[in-house]
Amino acid sequence: MKKKYIIAGNWKMNPQTTEEASRIATTVKKVAIKSKKIDTVVCPPFVYAHLVKTADNFSLGAQNVSLEQSGSFTGEVSADMLKSVGVKYVIVGHAERRKMGETDEIVSQKIGAVVGAGLQVILCVGEKERDQNGDYLAVLKAQIIASLGKLARKDVKQLIVAYEPLWTIGAPVAMTPADVRETGLFIKKVLADTYGQEYALSVRILYGGSVTFKNAKDIVLLGQVDGLLVGRESINTEGFNLILKEIDGI
Ligand code: 13P
Repeated sequence: MKKKYIIAGNWKMNPQTTEEASRIATTVKKVAIKSKKIDTVVCPPFVYAHLVKTADNFSLGAQNVSLEQSGSFTGEVSADMLKSVGVKYVIVGHAERRKMGETDEIVSQKIGAVVGAGLQVILCVGEKERDQNGDYLAVLKAQIIASLGKLARKDVKQLIVAYEPLWTIGAPVAMTPADVRETGLFIKKVLADTYGQEYALSVRILYGGSVTFKNAKDIVLLGQVDGLLVGRESINTEGFNLILKEIDGI
């Protein structure tokens, strides 16, 4: 059976009240639980996690995690804590966190923490810019290899890669489906060179960056990705639910 698509909503630091967070979660859940082909993942700020009442096809995700397991790390949240509140997926290495100083080394340690807790990692990778010579491919390759660090072959089943080119995040338009397809294949090739073909093919590749209900279906179908990581449109319930309907209708 084909694996389910993953449509993940990264709420980032939104919304500002529990009332609104609760409204978004319950409105999305109504559509998510009816879908047959999607695992919808809602990734709210930690403080709203308890408002997301998970169900079949409707999972809770986190936007970040500590690389430490427990102890004197003020303000941090461990992978075991996330697991204990029902989190199933953890976004690691988002471009906005890398901008705050998260290095590939830190990302690889966080992946270790998430995998160790038995959760699924959504590893974000993406180039800052595209050049004519294709140097961005080398940048992407180096980033993937360094971020995966010591991830063992046996743990590859807990890996999902979200390709988010930085220049499409919060931008007016997304990447073209043709470019998504080409880069997705490149990412699979890098994974195959690292872990072998069979393992690489089991990794789901998502696309993120200015996804809306208008471009979602083309990106998934023509871009040949296994799902989407949605920013702004994930807190616009009308738009996000339309994405779910479009993808479930594929
Ligand atoms: P936007 O969909 O708002 O461009 O954000 C993408 C993103 O960063 C998802 O993680």
